[in-house]
Amino acid sequence: MNAQQHKRKPMVIANWKLNGGIDLICTSVASFIGKHFETQIAICPPYIYMRDMLTFLQHSEISIGSQNVSKFESGAYTGETSAQMLKQAGCKLCLIGHSERRAMFRENNQSCQIKVQTALNHGLLPVLCIGENLEERDANITKDVIFRQLSEGLENINLDGKDLCIAYEPVWAIGTGLAATPEMAQEVHQFIRRELAVLLGEATAERIRLLYGGSVTKTNAKELLAQTDIDGLLVGGASLDPGHFLAICQQVSEQAIAKGNQPGSAPQSAASVN
Ligand code: PGA
Repeated sequence: MNAQQHKRKPMVIANWKLNGGIDLICTSVASFIGKHFETQIAICPPYIYMRDMLTFLQHSEISIGSQNVSKFESGAYTGETSAQMLKQAGCKLCLIGHSERRAMFRENNQSCQIKVQTALNHGLLPVLCIGENLEERDANITKDVIFRQLSEGLENINLDGKDLCIAYEPVWAIGTGLAATPEMAQEVHQFIRRELAVLLGEATAERIRLLYGGSVTKTNAKELLAQTDIDGLLVGGASLDPGHFLAICQQVSEQAIAKGNQPGSAPQSAASVN
């Protein structure tokens, strides 16, 4: 572990997708209120629940994120929600280019690039999701796919000192119960950090947090996070069980203490979470 790694404060994000309801909100809120974590935690509920959760969680350490953001600023775009609206509502981060949006809603690297810049411009932390599908892994082109997603998704991005996160989510691991092994995930995360160094410079690449997602559970969370280049987790299915998600957050928090991460040691910027 190097000194830079200590500076990357771990992060856990819950992606509720098109799930949840008042019961889940109540039990989730109840399990987090009054607890302290040495990790940044965000929940991305469906848009309709954001305001309620922001109100309930305002005195907690939990942030609210969105699962998507419009690439447009305003206008005749039915069904869209802009970065400015999310920011004004109190949202801290947004997922961009989740594989389900790429597969089912025709998002591509170009639309992701616009969304990343739009989120940055409005002070939201963009979490760019990338990852290969099973066919691509079997064809041994995982790194080519990742390279393209990164180089096109971040083309000409102006960070202007702000933060950005990358979530590596192999498509074959999402919702399947077949998580990548820690070694597999680390290999890709290391590749991502190297490519980020080429694209954005070494210092920036060292401070960007790389999250792993895809069948994360309380059983595999610790091992994944023990890898040098895995700085956090993006959790889907397991985040719908508040007790399970809390256990993951607690493990990450304990590991952060063991690794020597100091509270507040994450890079500071307008888009920092919390
Ligand atoms: P999963 O989903 O944890 O259910 O695999 C992760 C995600 O899609 O972000």
